Amino acid sequence: LILVLDFGGQYTQLIARRIRDCNVYCEIEPFNAPIDKLKAKKPKGIIFSGGPSSVYGEKAPTIDPQIYQLGVPVLGICYGMQLMTHQLQGKVVAAEDREYGRTNLKVHQCDHLFKGLLADEECWMSHGDRVEAVPPGFEITASTDKAPIAAMANKEQKLYAVQFHPEVVHTPKGTEILKNFLFDICGCSGTWNMGSFLEEAVRDVKNKVGNRKVLCALSGGVDSSVAAVLVHRAVGDNLTCVFVDHGLLRKNEAQQVVQTFRDKFNIKLVHVDASERFLGKLKGVTDPEQKRKIIGTEFIRVFEEEARKLGEIDFLVQGTLYPDVVESGTATAAVIKSHHNVGGLPEDMKFALVEPLRWLFKDEVRRLGEELGLPSEIVWRQPFPGPGLAVRILGEITKAKLDILREADFVVTDEIKKAGLDKEIWQYFAVLPDMRSVGVMGDERTYAYAAVVRAVYSHDGMTADWAKIPYEVLGKISTRIVNEVPEINRVVYDITSKPPGTIEWE
Ligand code: XMP
Repeated sequence: LILVLDFGGQYTQLIARRIRDCNVYCEIEPFNAPIDKLKAKKPKGIIFSGGPSSVYGEKAPTIDPQIYQLGVPVLGICYGMQLMTHQLQGKVVAAEDREYGRTNLKVHQCDHLFKGLLADEECWMSHGDRVEAVPPGFEITASTDKAPIAAMANKEQKLYAVQFHPEVVHTPKGTEILKNFLFDICGCSGTWNMGSFLEEAVRDVKNKVGNRKVLCALSGGVDSSVAAVLVHRAVGDNLTCVFVDHGLLRKNEAQQVVQTFRDKFNIKLVHVDASERFLGKLKGVTDPEQKRKIIGTEFIRVFEEEARKLGEIDFLVQGTLYPDVVESGTATAAVIKSHHNVGGLPEDMKFALVEPLRWLFKDEVRRLGEELGLPSEIVWRQPFPGPGLAVRILGEITKAKLDILREADFVVTDEIKKAGLDKEIWQYFAVLPDMRSVGVMGDERTYAYAAVVRAVYSHDGMTADWAKIPYEVLGKISTRIVNEVPEINRVVYDITSKPPGTIEWE
């Protein structure tokens, strides 16, 4: 285990990623985690992240200097280097001008941390303060024009520091530097993989839950699916999954969830077909926000009713991922996050949380899903909003419109997959605007719905660019939708990016 101590740097998660990519397990802890807690984890190495502060700032994050005495190798990055310098009696000064971006690096000693590097390298800098004098016992191991002390080392005590960022791709030898630290200096073996993670995670859940009862709200999305199967492996029939089917899912989706979990994995699954109930509540409602509210509230009610029927439940499974944990800034996210699926459960329903994915990034969750034998349709499923197709039908939601949209959406999905574009496009789907137009089919005039095709590239859904789908694929989608869905006679492609558009239409 490598511990990354977070001093608020923008690249902290990236450091963790890079380390795991080297098959070394690592965890991020806040800089102010108690030293005993850090010791108890028995890390093989510790990395201090960068951060926006100056060591001379009033509330500058700092760390118990005992950390340097543990005999565990430490690598300070950027602010981490400045902190190490400051604490070990070196000198940090404010630079006259910031050093930012690609920078030439003169490597003085191509050994230890810098084994395999050349005397001239490139690195990525992003700092204001810089080190002016190394602490006693340290030597300067690299420099740049503006930072004569760009790296330093106390090889005897295995304390290393770099002013630049080895974790970003703009430092071409960054990974080598990290590998030198992990393998040569810390002695990590590099054998960590999803299989080992799975074993540990199953054991942890077993220890935590024992013979008590666990409930999981299953949506069929990647996170809740992987979490459910993992917990099931640990506690078997003590797990019950509740799948609230609000009737706003895509074609065959509900069926697939039931088949996968009940038939393939033998998981106790309560399938609540609440479509009538949701449609009833949504009748006549056209305002987008109101629709969302109704669905959210109803979802919780249904889930709650089902949970109560199950009697005493001790634990609730949450598919919380690492980025959520780190973002919330706490090591123990005790509150159920106000997630569309299980947000705002009533106060009197007290559960302890089981969060088996809280150490994983999204792509790691997918790998874990594969390790657990989940079908690829679930593992590689595109993000799908909690309110489902309701945010893709403008105007009133009716059963008829849902059926039309499901068919059109199925064509879009099918053609994107056939064209092999499904992994590069973040989301792809059909939208049904409340709009009809005139067309002609055979010798007849038609007056039918238009469908919108929406497909975007994105990394996190926060911003998005419309996908440049080849014309031939768009052509096929259009022809098929009009041929296969009689209620649609026109297909248009949404070429709005986000911002200014949103990905969904409501
Ligand atoms: P927008 O439409 O805001 O969507 O650009 C950004 C991303 O969030 C998804 N989305 C939701 N996901 N519950 C969810 O779980 C919701 O209510 C919801 N609304 C939008 C959307 O699919 C896209 O990936």
